[in-house]
Amino acid sequence: MQRRQLLRQTALAVSAFSFSRELFALTPAQRQWVEAKGIPPAGLIKLSSNENPHGPSPLARKAMTDFVNQSNRYQWDMNGVMRERIGALTGHTKEHVILGAGSSELLGLACAWAALRKGNVVASEPTFKLWMTASRKIGLQTKLVPLTYSKHNDLQQLADAMDADTRMVYLCNPNNPTGTTATQTELEAFVRKVAKDRILLMDEAYTEYYDSPSVAHLINEFPNLLIAKTFSKVFGMAGARVGYILAQPDTVKKLAELSAWPNAGPSAVSMAGAMAALTDTDFVQLVKRENHRAKELFCQGLQKAGIPYIPSVTSFVYFDNQPYARKIPELLTSANIIGARTFEEKSSWLRLSVGTVPEMQKVVSILQA
Ligand SMILES: Cc1ncc(COP(=O)(O)O)c(C=O)c1O
Repeated sequence: MQRRQLLRQTALAVSAFSFSRELFALTPAQRQWVEAKGIPPAGLIKLSSNENPHGPSPLARKAMTDFVNQSNRYQWDMNGVMRERIGALTGHTKEHVILGAGSSELLGLACAWAALRKGNVVASEPTFKLWMTASRKIGLQTKLVPLTYSKHNDLQQLADAMDADTRMVYLCNPNNPTGTTATQTELEAFVRKVAKDRILLMDEAYTEYYDSPSVAHLINEFPNLLIAKTFSKVFGMAGARVGYILAQPDTVKKLAELSAWPNAGPSAVSMAGAMAALTDTDFVQLVKRENHRAKELFCQGLQKAGIPYIPSVTSFVYFDNQPYARKIPELLTSANIIGARTFEEKSSWLRLSVGTVPEMQKVVSILQA
């Protein structure tokens, strides 16, 4: 490796690590717990929401800081510029892109579109579910399909679960909370089966970590195919709230019509950061490398402690507390590490987000003690 490149990467790593801890605000419940225990946030290791422990990138931070001064103006022009950049980056045009305050806002919009005709949405169990409560309220019942034994989305059963009232299928690939992915061939076959007459909402929040398969190129063929993406994960900007959906221009128009004001999503400051983040490819590589190292170390630790786990292509790991003598969430919490939790009813399987290498070393040392 070139000396200059090495120095730059080291500087990036140092600046990322030194910023990482104070970046994360706590949820009210977590704050209450921390305050009751008298733990200063700096001493807390938060591995609960698959946040990136290294970001945002130095270029994104600078862009956001610089842009604060222009926050008095609405961000109309910028919205267009950013959509154009994302369009170009993904081989599409700005008309194929709708921006949101995080991808969650757009998952909600997709549900609203599907709910124009009452019916149901088919999804895996467990999967990323935040949008489900609201979707039920607006008239979309959820039909949940268990994962396979290996904790993969069961594509066959998902397709079989569709009925005459199915308006939308949601597929999170790689899946949260299990970290598993289908193959490119399997995904493409699934799109061809489902999206010809139903809305298919593909959540590709975690594809970057391991360059997992994507079906974004198929939007040209399927007007019902929506690809949701976020800057909250590999780009480390969860609090900045920037996400987007890729779809055909007519579909994007339909989604935009359901929002009070399509320009009301991410702030100008956040968009400035996100556009800078897109150019900081060194930083993304650093995040991926560090995530791989920390995750490997964690998985080896789980193996040594006799804890079964599902190989993950994401920034979190799903593992089974069952054969381990102690309750892992309590054990870790007593060491000021929060985040290990279950996503299935009456299940011993837990998810923990991958933090920095030193954080995962600490987790492993506690599990092996
Ligand atoms: C699969 C998946 N989709 C969407 C989101 C929401 O991301 P955003 O911060 O862009 O709203 C998350 C957040 O954890 C997620 O795991």
